[in-house]
Amino acid sequence: MTDPTHRTARSTADWQAADAAHYLHPFTDFRSLAAKGSRVIVSGENIYLRDSDGARILDAMSGLWCVNVGYGRTELIEAATRQMTTLPFYNSFFQTATPPAIELAELLAQVTPPQFAHVFFSGSGSEGNDTVVRMVRRYWDVLGQPERSVIISRKNAYHGSTMAGASLGGMSGMHEQGGLPIPGIVHIDQPFWFENANPGESRDAFGLRAAGWLEAKILELGADRVAAFIGEPVQGAGGVIVPPDTYWPEIQRICDRHGVLLVSDEVICGFGRTGRWFGCETFGFRPDLMTFAKGVTSGYVPLGGVMVGERIARVLIDQGGEFNHGYTYSGHPVACAVALANIRLVQREGLVERVRDDTGPYLAERFATLLAHPLVGEVQTCGLMGAVQLVQDKATNRTFAPELGIGMVCRGHCFGNGLIMRAVGDRMIVAPPLVITRAQIDEMMALIERCLDLTLADVEARGRA
Ligand SMILES: Cc1ncc(COP(=O)(O)O)c(C=O)c1O
Repeated sequence: MTDPTHRTARSTADWQAADAAHYLHPFTDFRSLAAKGSRVIVSGENIYLRDSDGARILDAMSGLWCVNVGYGRTELIEAATRQMTTLPFYNSFFQTATPPAIELAELLAQVTPPQFAHVFFSGSGSEGNDTVVRMVRRYWDVLGQPERSVIISRKNAYHGSTMAGASLGGMSGMHEQGGLPIPGIVHIDQPFWFENANPGESRDAFGLRAAGWLEAKILELGADRVAAFIGEPVQGAGGVIVPPDTYWPEIQRICDRHGVLLVSDEVICGFGRTGRWFGCETFGFRPDLMTFAKGVTSGYVPLGGVMVGERIARVLIDQGGEFNHGYTYSGHPVACAVALANIRLVQREGLVERVRDDTGPYLAERFATLLAHPLVGEVQTCGLMGAVQLVQDKATNRTFAPELGIGMVCRGHCFGNGLIMRAVGDRMIVAPPLVITRAQIDEMMALIERCLDLTLADVEARGRA
């Protein structure tokens, strides 16, 4: 697997020393990484990466859930080069716009559900969610109901790492640092059947019960104080938590009943990941706002934004006055040019339909076979996302003691065997590029099986020690 012709001008040790001396990585224990040395990724082609030792790695996480069209696509590279040559930057603040931003707004209105005709651009998913907070509060202000300011989100949700994004998110580790959440954001439990269902409770019954936690929270706060509910159609960073089919339609009914705005964070689920263009289409709900990022450019350049439903857009346009919010890179022309090329590529290659009709069902079929493995208690997939729940005892689904860090043990084997698969606690997750073929899914599954076997061997060796 290691190919010396791919070595870089500087040695791996040299890269690692410079990295440790100067570079603070996101979501990282700085000291332990500096001691260990980071893995230096130098190039990518299709669904494969190369590191600075020349090792080939199957990227089953699409970078960070974003490289949907795979690495090395000339259409995107050329679009960026053309736009950089013509106009590398101009802003949208001073009553100006650029052709790529206008055209992208137009194309987004076509590929998103019918309630969306307008977009507000940001540079990332986190910034998009900051915009959501500003915009829903502005909406209720303009309507003369400023007390409707509370936003309800869910525990274990991930909505980004800015102050508002991390506050909307439900990650306790993030809230512990920096005095979060900011005021006016509250959390309910997540629809995680494996962990939260009662003994014998069906997925559908659990889905309805979990949606009921939203209604209980709205009633507790008073509907006239609640601005919006936000959720990821499938909780991604939380461990690919696929909700029961009953969950989202019931959430929709509850929001409608109480006049609460519904926000779908499509940063991971958007642009085909679930087998439809947007996750809300897969799960059958109709959001008022939709955050997007990642897959809009397949991660080639940063871009995010919020699709603004007509219910909100009409109020802000017709009665709103100035909205005092925006980013230097809102509608960045290079990012928008790349997004246009990316979305057209997704359309031309029929990638969304391919996930829906072919590779998504195939992944589901292949993942189901993992249930025979002694370490696997549950598997879930949705389109091209999958989760494998590791358990100590299959009969009772008893999980491992957290201090064993079994997910990290398995992830270590993945790293060592040329596979990028992520661990969220004891859940191993994948979200491969949407261009992955059946043969490549087979290759990925063989690697997953090998890594599960190696993890099992570790568990057994520990048992004997
Ligand atoms: C659902 C969701 N929302 C928001 C974000 C934040 O996006 P970004 O990292 O681009 O700020 C992420 C990132 O993983 C995400 O998964």
